Amino acid sequence: MSKGAEHLVEVRNLRKHFHLGRNSVLKAVDDISFSIGKGSTLGLVGESGCGKTTAGRVIVRLYEPTDGTVLFDGRDISRMGGRALRELRKRSQMIFQNPYTSLNSRMTVGDVVSEGIDIHGLYRGSERTDRIYELLGLVGLNKEHASRFPHEFSGGQRQRIGIARALAVEPEFIVCDEPISALDVSIQSQVINLLIGLQDRFNLAYLFISHDLKMVKHVSDQVAVMYLGGIVEIAPSNELYQHPVHPYTRGLLSAAVSPDPKAERGKERNILQGEVPSPINPPDCCRFEKRCPAVQPICREARPDLKPIADGHMVACHLV
Ligand SMILES: Nc1ncnc2c1ncn2[C@@H]1O[C@H](COP(=O)(O)OP(=O)(O)O)[C@@H](O)[C@H]1O
Ligand SMILES: [Mg+2]
Repeated sequence: MSKGAEHLVEVRNLRKHFHLGRNSVLKAVDDISFSIGKGSTLGLVGESGCGKTTAGRVIVRLYEPTDGTVLFDGRDISRMGGRALRELRKRSQMIFQNPYTSLNSRMTVGDVVSEGIDIHGLYRGSERTDRIYELLGLVGLNKEHASRFPHEFSGGQRQRIGIARALAVEPEFIVCDEPISALDVSIQSQVINLLIGLQDRFNLAYLFISHDLKMVKHVSDQVAVMYLGGIVEIAPSNELYQHPVHPYTRGLLSAAVSPDPKAERGKERNILQGEVPSPINPPDCCRFEKRCPAVQPICREARPDLKPIADGHMVACHLV
């Protein structure tokens, strides 16, 4: 790590706005900040459309930010060009949500997996072939698979191919964008366990994106809850699940009903009401105001800042 870089990835007041028309701005990501240490996982959670994928794409520089900065190993990724950018492309990777669309169907699995190896000139000839076989082995596939095409594989196997492609360049950081949400429930935990095993083995840092707050509990060191472009609560994983404070976090945690009806008795019922509002030209107030069970006049007047309430635990709510 560079001198003085405490975190591998540091996101500061990041914004990504899409200009749709003359007076219309879609604020997909609107001022988010967090950091991720080497080898650790930040779970980024929220309902569909809240800006998770957009944030992930900006953080690996697939999109340029509208405002704010992303530091990778202490260096501003927006200022990187030439060699520094090539190095970033090697050190940070992304695994995509849909393994049916994210693999080029005209390429063999071996060519998909070795794309990064070839771009960065990491291995040639028989070493390259051995490396492809090694990567397939790491994700639970085998060398016979290298000459086949993605459509011959199941969703879970395709996601393994996507993981092998990401690992090929020996990254330190991977954005895992809902890596299991398109897969059969029966194989979701296999893919999660694979990602956890690879993290331990290679000391990978993950930004683990999910719409399911309960699911990220097992994989995250820290969890950030997003609502309509902003982070409403962020905390170390244990703290967030034991002491959820923001009404949205509490709503998400109570939204999934436990299979045991007795366990639900006496528990707070706070099922989220209504729809997520549009991120186009959002009013400058609390973004959760329309759905909040505890809304007060102040919530319609100003957007609350993220304020610390305990070690590493921050909440953006006027009522806290
Ligand atoms: N390239 C784009 N152009 C315009 N709007 C976009 C673009 N990408 C995403 N959006 C919008 O940004 C918002 C956040 O999208 P996204 O980051 O995909 O959310 P999530 O991953 O949390 O479901 C949505 O309203 C989406 O329609
Ligand atoms: Mg998404």
